[in-house]
Amino acid sequence: MTTDSALLRRVVRSGTASDAEIAGLLKDAGLDAVVRVLVDEVLFRCDEPVNTTPVDLALDLTHGSERQRVVFRIVRDRPIEVVDAEGAVIRRELRMDVADLVRRLFGRADHRRAGDFHDIFLPTRPERLADLPDVLAATSQASGTLLSGCTVPAVDLGALSVAYGSDKWASFHWYTAHYQKEFAPYRDEPVRLLEIGIGGFDGQLGGSSLRMWKRYFHRGAVFGLDLFDKSALDQPRLTALTGDQGDAGALAALAEEHGPFDIVIDDGSHENEHVRISFEALFPYVRRGGLYVIEDLQTSYFPRFGGTAGGVAGPGTSVGLLKSLLDDLHYQEQDPKPDGPPTVTQDTVAGVRVYRNIAFIEKGVNGENGIPGWMDDEAWVALGAIPPAAD
Ligand SMILES: C[S@@+](CC[C@H](N)C(=O)[O-])C[C@H]1O[C@@H](n2cnc3c(N)ncnc32)[C@H](O)[C@@H]1O
Repeated sequence: MTTDSALLRRVVRSGTASDAEIAGLLKDAGLDAVVRVLVDEVLFRCDEPVNTTPVDLALDLTHGSERQRVVFRIVRDRPIEVVDAEGAVIRRELRMDVADLVRRLFGRADHRRAGDFHDIFLPTRPERLADLPDVLAATSQASGTLLSGCTVPAVDLGALSVAYGSDKWASFHWYTAHYQKEFAPYRDEPVRLLEIGIGGFDGQLGGSSLRMWKRYFHRGAVFGLDLFDKSALDQPRLTALTGDQGDAGALAALAEEHGPFDIVIDDGSHENEHVRISFEALFPYVRRGGLYVIEDLQTSYFPRFGGTAGGVAGPGTSVGLLKSLLDDLHYQEQDPKPDGPPTVTQDTVAGVRVYRNIAFIEKGVNGENGIPGWMDDEAWVALGAIPPAAD
């Protein structure tokens, strides 16, 4: 892990830390370094600017007597720039304790304080009063954009999927409603998420869903894996790894380096054999309480993907894998009970939730004891659960 990613991780975790812990972070890393992490994040989160007149806004981040000024130049159809304060025409100054910005970005989604910044609107009078209406409107719009970057937005994953260009909603697939329901308990956590399959066809780099996950999991570290090198996508909290999901050894090596993961999503080749190899290699690296997601179960029925023609998917398919997990979930109920210690999946599959074409496998402790083996007919009769046999 580089120093930068160690710092990023510490800043993210500070979102739910005490004032004293955040002060400790600032003492160790310095205000400059922490502000750089925060500004990267603000730039990633900002909504698209709507003001057609460029506006320069200052964000003053304070810590005790220290102060760091960052000036953002915001205008429609251009990436937001951080510019030199010298020569900028600052229309608004927002002053905030740096600890408050850490909490706004990396605290819980419902973390809101009634007031956590000072605002100086139009610190100097515009040179030409005739410009005032336009300056006022553009400054308000640009301020809205900057504040959007300083918050954890309420998220509709479907809208986010469409905005980033993923096919998880409103394409051939309708997955994001399921994701939103299944992922809600993880949203505020500093999750580590791995998605197999980064996407991007016809020479496009892809990364739509990785950006969507980074946006949704505002404290998360997102990893993607693809056959093709997509490391140009790398940015804070998002890392694109190269490898083949059909290579169990390579998967274990990457999981040793970057895992364990809270969430793994298989949106790769959708070859049935690959789905099984990846599950067997990576499920052991999912944390207890985490989820393993398999998309595109329909290929269980497509022979060209190694699926089965007809109405009953075979044991080698993704649906066959899910059926075997249901058997493992109920291994204590089997008669006779299996001999020997439980397998990884018997021991740790705690739930299997299947929606059309997508499955969520929950990892946990599959520890409920089944009905004891000695509960024979006599014992059931003693309980009054069945009538005694007639003589
Ligand atoms: C459907 S796209 C992923 C789309 C992306 N997850 C999204 O929602 O925007 C499938 C990706 O899987 C990758 N892929 C195909 N076979 C693979 C393999 N054996 N190992 C890893 N990635 C593979 C492809 O290169 C492609 O980028």
